Amino acid sequence: MKQLIYTILLLTLYVSCKKTVEPSKTGLITKNAMVVSARVEASKIGSDILKKGGNAFDAMAATQLALAVAYPYAGNIGGGGFMVYRKANGEIGGLDFREKAPLAATTDMYLDEDGNVIPEKSTLGAMAVGVPGTIAGVFAVHEKFGSLSIEDIIKPAIELAYRGVIVTKKQEEKIAHYMPLFKRANKYSTLFHKPWKKNDTIKYEALAKTLTRIMTHGKDEFYKGDTAKRLAKFIQENGGILTEEDLARYEVKWRDPVSFKYDDLNIISMSPPSSGGVCLAQIMKMIEPFHLDEYGHNSLKTIQVIAEAERRAYADRSFYLGDPDFVDIPIETLTQKAYLNKRMSDFSFKKATLSSDVSHGDIQVIESNETTHYSIIDTFGNTVSVTTTINGAYGSKLYCSDLGFFLNNEMDDFSSKPGVPNMFGVTGGEANSILPEKRMLSSMTPTIVEKDGKLLMSIGTPGGSTIITSVLQTILNVHEFNMTMQEAVDAPRFHHQWLPDEIRMEPNSFNDTLIFQLEKLGYSINEKDSPVIGKVDGILVLNDELLEGGADHRGDDTAVGF
Ligand code: GLY
Repeated sequence: MKQLIYTILLLTLYVSCKKTVEPSKTGLITKNAMVVSARVEASKIGSDILKKGGNAFDAMAATQLALAVAYPYAGNIGGGGFMVYRKANGEIGGLDFREKAPLAATTDMYLDEDGNVIPEKSTLGAMAVGVPGTIAGVFAVHEKFGSLSIEDIIKPAIELAYRGVIVTKKQEEKIAHYMPLFKRANKYSTLFHKPWKKNDTIKYEALAKTLTRIMTHGKDEFYKGDTAKRLAKFIQENGGILTEEDLARYEVKWRDPVSFKYDDLNIISMSPPSSGGVCLAQIMKMIEPFHLDEYGHNSLKTIQVIAEAERRAYADRSFYLGDPDFVDIPIETLTQKAYLNKRMSDFSFKKATLSSDVSHGDIQVIESNETTHYSIIDTFGNTVSVTTTINGAYGSKLYCSDLGFFLNNEMDDFSSKPGVPNMFGVTGGEANSILPEKRMLSSMTPTIVEKDGKLLMSIGTPGGSTIITSVLQTILNVHEFNMTMQEAVDAPRFHHQWLPDEIRMEPNSFNDTLIFQLEKLGYSINEKDSPVIGKVDGILVLNDELLEGGADHRGDDTAVGF
């Protein structure tokens, strides 16, 4: 009997430690340069810019605009985002082109007279719209670092919009899924009221015209010109509060990224108002003392350590983080080794910690699922990592037919009422309350990894609150478990965010024995609510300096390079 139990235990251990991806599956390998994004059209446009002699910053601007055409689900000019960069000479930096609250925004704008959150007010339609930052971001990047003309950069997106984009199976399904909301959010029929089918071609003539005006008159066309007037009028006609003045006052912020060590890696990620960098630093420093490589990929012990570190980091995130131009954030303390060791001091492999027993440390967050990410490395050795969003899938679902794009619902990333979870179940605090012109807290985690002072990886993902933990697991998959970039991206993912107190797991990806073991230790496992956790797009610099792309099979993501 004892022998039998021992054999079962060994088998269990073997199965739970087993890698669930095929060995040595590699992504696209190229010698010179690469772009990995959510759509082949955008990756190709970015890559063509690089081939033409443009740098990663030129390609950033071109890819961002191409995604606005090819991937209206999340690509945008009606939203915002963050870019982290590393130049070939090692210089690093970050750009915040995050949306802002309109001037007329108020702390309780999404509450009824009894102080309760009004369902959908911050997610569906014009009241959900923050001041878009994307066009300002594109122009800021081009002005500071670009080498090609703005015509070279914008023209490919305009041509794509006129030519049209072929609908994929996944896109057909998404459009059908969100159709009822498109109908509710818009007074009049839009391009997206049609049940587009796989292989149909959608032409974006209005967007092509908007981009042409922007190309001709510059950034001011979007923020102060004819486009600004038409946009503000459209939002107000639909019941929103965004004005021409809001658009005219928008500006991007260049920010120092969060930079920290993990083993022999140097990780560079986005600083507030994104929670990404701080939270990633906290989690990685909490798990650094543990021997994940010995425990094995997605093994019981590895999942325990990561989930417990995530629980603790997300509790802090909900309390302390917000727009740094409005709140003081104790970043140094939050990412200090001593503080984080103390945070993990009550962790035990014997049983799950309860989230009700974990509060923010003694010294509070947010999001969206349907963001998108792209990574670029150019022929000169510059790299950018950009995550951009309109928050929910197709943003607020409000589509401006006159101008040809969806508007964001980024206002939902604020805490409408501290203590009440947003659309992603993340509970926010006072630090992220709504104020005029404040930026809402984000989870976007565009990240660059260096090893021995050299570029190793450019990586990021959509996924709302799961962004941070997906980036984390992909870095660990390469560093701790020796996976290729493609394997690291493909590997099944899990996620813990303090509240709700559960480990979300991609369905049918983790074996029953492992789940049983976790449940026995007190963990609640949720395999229902996140059929997909993240769509990671990354580029890895290999030992021989070739580039390997990791494009996530969970989407239509594609790597293009040469
Ligand atoms: N709206 C997604 C994020 O900023 O995290």
